[in-house]
Amino acid sequence: GVVGQPLPHESAALHVTGHALYTDDLVGRTKDVLHAHPVGSPHAHARVVSLDATPALAVPGVVRVLTADDVPGVNDAGVKHDEPLFPSEAMFVGHGVAWVLAETAEAARLGALAVEVTWEPLPSLVSIHDAIAAGSFQGGQPRLLRGDVEAALEGAAHVFSGETEMAGQEHFYLETHASLALVDEAGQVFVQCSTQHPTETQDIVAHVLGVPSHAVTVQCLRMGGGFGGKEMQPHGFAAVAALGATLTGRPVRLRLSRQLDMTMTGKRHGFHAQWRVGFDDDGRLLALDATLTSDGGWSLDLSEPVLARALCHVDNAYWIPHVRVNGRVAQTHKTSQTAFRGFGGPQGMLVVEDVLGRCAPLLGVDADELRRRNFYGPGQSTPYGQPVRHPERLQRVWGAVLTNADVARRRAEVDAFNAAHERTKRAIALTPVKFGISFNLTAFNQAGALVHVYKDGSVLVTHGGTEMGQGLHTKMLQVAATALGVPLSRVRLAPTRTDKVPNTSATAASSGADLNGGAVKDACEQVRDRLDTVAAGLLGTTAADVRVEGGVFRRLDGLQEVSWEEVIRVAYSQRVQLWAAGFHRTEGLHWDSTRMQGEPFKYFAYGAAAAEVQVDGLTGAYRLRRVDVVHDVGDSLSPLVDLGQVEGGFVQGAGWLTLEDLRWDEGDGPTRGRLTTQAASTYKLPSLSEMPEDFRVTLLEDAHEDGVVYGSKAVGEPPLMLAFCVREALRRACAAFGPAGTSIALASPATPEAVWWALEAARAAGRD
Ligand code: MTE
Ligand code: HPA
Ligand code: CA
Repeated sequence: GVVGQPLPHESAALHVTGHALYTDDLVGRTKDVLHAHPVGSPHAHARVVSLDATPALAVPGVVRVLTADDVPGVNDAGVKHDEPLFPSEAMFVGHGVAWVLAETAEAARLGALAVEVTWEPLPSLVSIHDAIAAGSFQGGQPRLLRGDVEAALEGAAHVFSGETEMAGQEHFYLETHASLALVDEAGQVFVQCSTQHPTETQDIVAHVLGVPSHAVTVQCLRMGGGFGGKEMQPHGFAAVAALGATLTGRPVRLRLSRQLDMTMTGKRHGFHAQWRVGFDDDGRLLALDATLTSDGGWSLDLSEPVLARALCHVDNAYWIPHVRVNGRVAQTHKTSQTAFRGFGGPQGMLVVEDVLGRCAPLLGVDADELRRRNFYGPGQSTPYGQPVRHPERLQRVWGAVLTNADVARRRAEVDAFNAAHERTKRAIALTPVKFGISFNLTAFNQAGALVHVYKDGSVLVTHGGTEMGQGLHTKMLQVAATALGVPLSRVRLAPTRTDKVPNTSATAASSGADLNGGAVKDACEQVRDRLDTVAAGLLGTTAADVRVEGGVFRRLDGLQEVSWEEVIRVAYSQRVQLWAAGFHRTEGLHWDSTRMQGEPFKYFAYGAAAAEVQVDGLTGAYRLRRVDVVHDVGDSLSPLVDLGQVEGGFVQGAGWLTLEDLRWDEGDGPTRGRLTTQAASTYKLPSLSEMPEDFRVTLLEDAHEDGVVYGSKAVGEPPLMLAFCVREALRRACAAFGPAGTSIALASPATPEAVWWALEAARAAGRD
């Protein structure tokens, strides 16, 4: 079948030739467009005492200034109703309190500068430490509990404690946030939007306008990357554009510049963790007691589910009999932190990986061995009560990496290298990934699709998922072609629209292909069932005796065949319905979010990776010499797409852990609360030069997953966390500068500066 073929991304040629259309490309094809620019707060926290828009209206080209008074519906853009769209209190530097519409983007910018706002600055909390000290928290405070942590720590042979802190991360999708809103003659609103969640964008636009959802249509052609940053953050921008369009009768374009995007939009949550951990004499984990605090920024956004996923991933791949983890979300005067690939999973897992990396030398156990020794085994379940059904896959990916990467031999080489080099050290480290697939909230695990077969036999597929570069549309084309039994060339995919498939979930949680693939397959099978009957008539047999592949229906005995086109022609003349709506819901899930217990995940995705680094003892600069990955994607729907996802996820994870350093001004001066890394010049991203010098990715073989579309597994997020091995390799290389058994605390991100401080601490331990 077409499923499983290594096809290029369905838009690859358009991407590389520049012909692929993104939201903002449609502006040039639209007449009379107005451009929107925000009036941003210069303060981290300030009340709007007064706002005078008149001077802006004197700026040539300015048409209108949108303020809270203009909102006909609800002045709120947050699903949690804690995000006033036109706030009377600015909650972070850059927070938009009004929006200027003008004939050009430049006129809108100048107009925004001319709006006169009187501010009353208020006290602000910028760092997570300030928020914790001030007791500034928002939302629920979940607790994950299993066993008796106190008793287990009491009886443990070794007890260690520490803190782990990790930075957030800027999404840096190539395409910044963009919306283009139009109003047609009947007052219907159409918003073209770069959104991972068209339905929720539609909901918010409708609330703000005070109209029913059927009056608003949201379309997403494709995104130039989303990475979670467009799961909840596009809604307010779309609502501003839609409001402007309804008030002026003209199309409104809202597209953020890179600097505005970085200043205004939420990022990955930074986390602070405090922990105590107990091991037995063999290095087996007995108990973990931890408090995880995330930095949520000014509003809740997705902070609660991100925290829930963090708590559900503190175990990563390890069996920990006694667990108590408290979670809370700090409220700070920063952008509203949001979904980002992994969605709290990376943060939770980093805690236990940091614990193991730091404790291994103290236990006198090699860190790789310590990890393997603590893997889940048969019959064991997670702290939230979900059985780990295929723990042998951990052993398989781990073993495959050890073999593929030739770890034993190369480790001997590394040891020899280190003995011969005083100022340069190398190290290899392995880390595992176990990541839960499904939305924790059971209700989100549903999807819809619409499959049309036209009279000429061509097929049009629409589904509820969005394309952000991850290859979802490619996979859906493959699923449709296989389920219908036609060549790929017969199938086209239409842009995602809320008037085609309603009530969709975000394309998130890596579940786009699982959910929408299930729905596409369901729709195709409905059509197929009807066509089989028609074909059976033509072939002189029964429907059960009919097979179709490559656009040809055949009798099982192979004696007769009839083309797809002929069957469609006859089916139409017999008045057989040639299209269907498909639906999919993931079976077997349940989750009690108050008790943090249940089976929230359909299955786990597994992977393992080994990294070799070289660290310069004079500067802390390092090289990523080689990476080997073995990752479990089930029976791949589309192997090239999946390889790209594994590679891209890995590099994005390595960026988060080693390079990307968000800094806010925490001083008391006039720029307090400002994001000081608001451009590519100050925010270091991984690029080609940071790719592993030698990068070997393989997909686990014989990995069929029952109950998921064509035996496949989700791939979008899990590989990001394979990058832990880079940080652990850096830790080991730092340790090599000190005496054996030195425990290394390494900051995250492990920038060259952070690595230098860590290796200097190791050297200092040798001097005492
Ligand atoms: N790959 C590309 N190229 N661009 C993206 O924005 N987002 C990631 C991942 N891979 C992303 C990507 C995230 S955060 C998720 S949740 C999944 O893709 C979403 O798509 P899927 O569910 O279809 O895998
Ligand atoms: N990733 C994982 N889980 C989620 C997400 C996501 O983006 N959104 C809601 N639950
Ligand atoms: Ca962002």
